[in-house]
Amino acid sequence: MKPKLFITREIPKVGIERLKDKFEIELWNEYWAPPRDVLLKKASEVDAMVTLLTDKIDRELLDRAKNLRIIAQYAVGFDNIDIRYATEKGVYVTNTPEVLTHATADLAMALLLAVTRRIVEADSFVRNGEWERSRTGWHPLMLLGMELNGKILGVIGMGRIGREVAKRARSFGMKIVYYDLRRLPQEEEDSLGAKFLDLEELLSTSDVVTIHANLTEETRHLINEQRLRLMKPTAYLINVARGAIVDTNALVKALKEGWIAGAGLDVFEEEPLPASHELTKLKNVVLAPHIGSATIEARNAMAEKVALNLIEFLNGRVPPDLVNKDVVKVRQPGFK
Ligand code: GLV
Ligand code: GLV
Repeated sequence: MKPKLFITREIPKVGIERLKDKFEIELWNEYWAPPRDVLLKKASEVDAMVTLLTDKIDRELLDRAKNLRIIAQYAVGFDNIDIRYATEKGVYVTNTPEVLTHATADLAMALLLAVTRRIVEADSFVRNGEWERSRTGWHPLMLLGMELNGKILGVIGMGRIGREVAKRARSFGMKIVYYDLRRLPQEEEDSLGAKFLDLEELLSTSDVVTIHANLTEETRHLINEQRLRLMKPTAYLINVARGAIVDTNALVKALKEGWIAGAGLDVFEEEPLPASHELTKLKNVVLAPHIGSATIEARNAMAEKVALNLIEFLNGRVPPDLVNKDVVKVRQPGFK
C-alpha cells in the first residue's frame, strides 16, 4: 500500500508529478488554507504532509498525527512548526533551502530600490494625473530619493539570502556591515566585503537595514521601539524574512513620526495584512504580500525539493533537507 500524503495547497505540477505514483495523494484545492479542523483531521489520517508557512503544526496536531512520519515544508522558514516536539515524536521535518535564495534576494533589492527611489509613489503620480496637473515634464525637486552608491547596508542575518543581498548591494556601490549570532570566518567576511558590527552599532550607522534572519524566540521583536530609535532619520528598513522580527506598532510610529525615512515590507505579523492597516496609509512604505520566493523558477524548484525529500524518506534514506537532524536518533527514515 502506498503511504498517504496530504498536501495543504496546490503546488507546482512538477512536484505532484514526481509524487503521484509513489503516494496516495490528497490535495486541499482551495486558494485559502485548510481550516484548523480539516488540518487536524487530515494529520490524524496520513503518513506524510506537505505544509506551508500558514499551517500551524503544533503539539495538538502532532499528538493526533499517529501515523505521521514526515512533514515536507514548502518554504525555507519553518517557524510554523514545533520542531522540538516533532523531533520528540519522531516526525522528520524538511524545508526548501537554497532554491529560493536568489528570488528572495532579488525581492529585497526590489523593495530597497522601490522605497529609496519612491517608485510606487512615482507610478501613482503618473497614473493619477498629478504629473499632468503639475504642468511640467521635469522639475529639479520632483520625487527626490536616496542614492545607494557609498551608502551603508546593514544586513541582519548573514545566511544564504543575506549574503546574496550583500553581493547585489555591493554592485550598487554600497558598503556592507552585518550582524549575526555567529560571526563569519575572516575569509568569508573579506570575500563579501562585509564588516561585523553589534546590532546597536549596525542600526545607528546603516542607511538601509535589511532583515534576513529566522524567526525564533530570540529574534521575535528584535527590532523594537528602542532599536528603531537608534536608526538614522534618513535610513530605510527592509524586511523579507518574517514580520514578527519587527514590532509592527513601533514601526508604524517610527514611520509616522519620522524616526526613519521609510520601509519596504514583504512580511507582516498578521498575514494577510488587512487593507485597513495603518501601514497601508503611509506613503513612505512599499508593501508586498509575502512574495519573496514568488518566481516561477524558485517555486518549481521548491516543489521538486519537496518531492525529492519525500521520495528519499520513502526509500529509507535521510532526506537531504532535514531540519531536525536529531530525529534520526528517535526513528529510522521510512514508512515501515
Ligand atoms: C517563505 O517565507 C519561506 O520561508 O520560504
Ligand atoms: C536561504 O536559503 C537561507 O536560509 O538563507
